[in-house]
Amino acid sequence: MSILITGAAGFIGSHLVDTLLLANESIIGIDSFNNYYSPSIKENNLKEAKNNSNFKLITGSILDTHLLDTIFKNNTITTIIHLAAYAGVRPSIENPDIYYETNITGTKNILECAKKYQCKRVLVASSSSVYGNNKKIPFSETDPVDNPISPYAATKKMSEIMCYNYHYLYNLDIACLRFFTVYGPRQRPEMAIHKFCNMIRHNQPIPVYNHGKCLRDYTYIDDIINGVVNILKSPNLSFDIINLGESATISTNDLILLLEKELNTKASITYLDSQQGDVEQTFADITLAKTKYNYDPKFPLETGLKQFVSWYQSLNHFA
Ligand SMILES: NC(=O)c1ccc[n+]([C@@H]2O[C@H](COP(=O)([O-])OP(=O)(O)OC[C@H]3O[C@@H](n4cnc5c(N)ncnc54)[C@H](O)[C@@H]3O)[C@@H](O)[C@H]2O)c1
Repeated sequence: MSILITGAAGFIGSHLVDTLLLANESIIGIDSFNNYYSPSIKENNLKEAKNNSNFKLITGSILDTHLLDTIFKNNTITTIIHLAAYAGVRPSIENPDIYYETNITGTKNILECAKKYQCKRVLVASSSSVYGNNKKIPFSETDPVDNPISPYAATKKMSEIMCYNYHYLYNLDIACLRFFTVYGPRQRPEMAIHKFCNMIRHNQPIPVYNHGKCLRDYTYIDDIINGVVNILKSPNLSFDIINLGESATISTNDLILLLEKELNTKASITYLDSQQGDVEQTFADITLAKTKYNYDPKFPLETGLKQFVSWYQSLNHFA
């Protein structure tokens, strides 16, 4: 019996692969190794996993229904963790087609396989971006999310709706995981924190949108992985949409101050107006995750940033 992880070579997927292999699970990973960011980074993410005989990697797309059918026919897959997606808000405005195709049709393909091959449990990555510019904080799963402000957010909201439908029609246990800005080792290079570190290192001015006033709930990768694993194993899951955040929020300006301290270098900053698609704030109410799924985030930003910077400084470019 295996767990299928889509987007296995990505930031969150590769950490999940490593953690579940440590727990002696048998894992099948699928990833298209697309060039949203360098595929060699993704190859590197799976360097250790590839040596583990409990791990099978399939290079291919969740848009290839023939490939998916072959994978499900040849393996006994009881559980799916569906992370494959085009992530990132701003590029989704430039190129909505690839977002709609991958994030909506791709998710539909995975749910169809879950139905056809009777996988009882499916976890699907959603995003805090579905909350749009909601004013009420912290964001709770019961808040209205009918006003996405980017194609990316719209695709994530649509995924949640499809998940409910498959749960209702086919009695699948499904969790939609609303991740709040995840960071840590292997973080995608275009995301704030990793991108800011690169710019500080190269003495480049950091473009800071909305004059640094955007507020984000940054969540450390180990907390996210513990949350996902708890939900994966929980006897309580039927259908839930679940916030996974740190439940704390910080402005971009204050984040940069913390990074300057950790890197012991002053950043140069270009202040800009806000960008289309960027939400003003994110802040997770994590009561549901805590009470029903024993989620217990342990890395406040100051601690997590130390871990991130220590990983960042161990990369080859510092050797
Ligand atoms: N990182 C965050 O802060 C964050 C926040 C909210 C939601 N999410 C969601 O979590 C999931 C994982 O995010 P991540 O940061 O690890 O992103 P990532 O880009 O590092 O990982 C996604 C992986 O999916 C793969 N992929 C894309 N299209 C594919 C396809 N058609 N077939 C197979 N594989 C495909 C990519 O190659 C990539 O390796 C995504 O669904 C993302 O939208 C992430």
